[in-house]
Amino acid sequence: MLSRIDHVGIAVRDIDAAVDAYRRLLGRPPSHRQVVESDGVEAVMFEVGESRIELLGATGPNSKIAAFLERRGGGLHHVAYGTDDVQATLDELTGLGLPAIDSCPRRGAGGRLVAFLHPSAAMGVLTELCQPEPDASEPVG
Ligand code: CO
Repeated sequence: MLSRIDHVGIAVRDIDAAVDAYRRLLGRPPSHRQVVESDGVEAVMFEVGESRIELLGATGPNSKIAAFLERRGGGLHHVAYGTDDVQATLDELTGLGLPAIDSCPRRGAGGRLVAFLHPSAAMGVLTELCQPEPDASEPVG
């Protein structure tokens, strides 16, 4: 099942300003920065112990997070839980009647398997299930 909080996703209007703010807050540079063209998102990861902070900026008006930024102006976007088997966890949770956005896992940033539950499953917070690659050498998400 859900074994830990893998990362917390935070949507930001200005990714460079956000990186500066979190660099000051956490006292370290980000570990990974990646543009996911298909989602129109730039993702920046900061390591915090066994968890991460994922900053998400839009690369254009067609970005997957553009509507969220427009509606809420940024802030908590999703909580990602780590699981050893994202498909089994997704099946178990949907079997309990929780609404999902994905019916099967897909490849997220860094090639990891991810699936999303609808925000209504978690009191309005988008929920990501993510499965680390067993041989992943680079922390991404
Ligand atoms: Co994420």
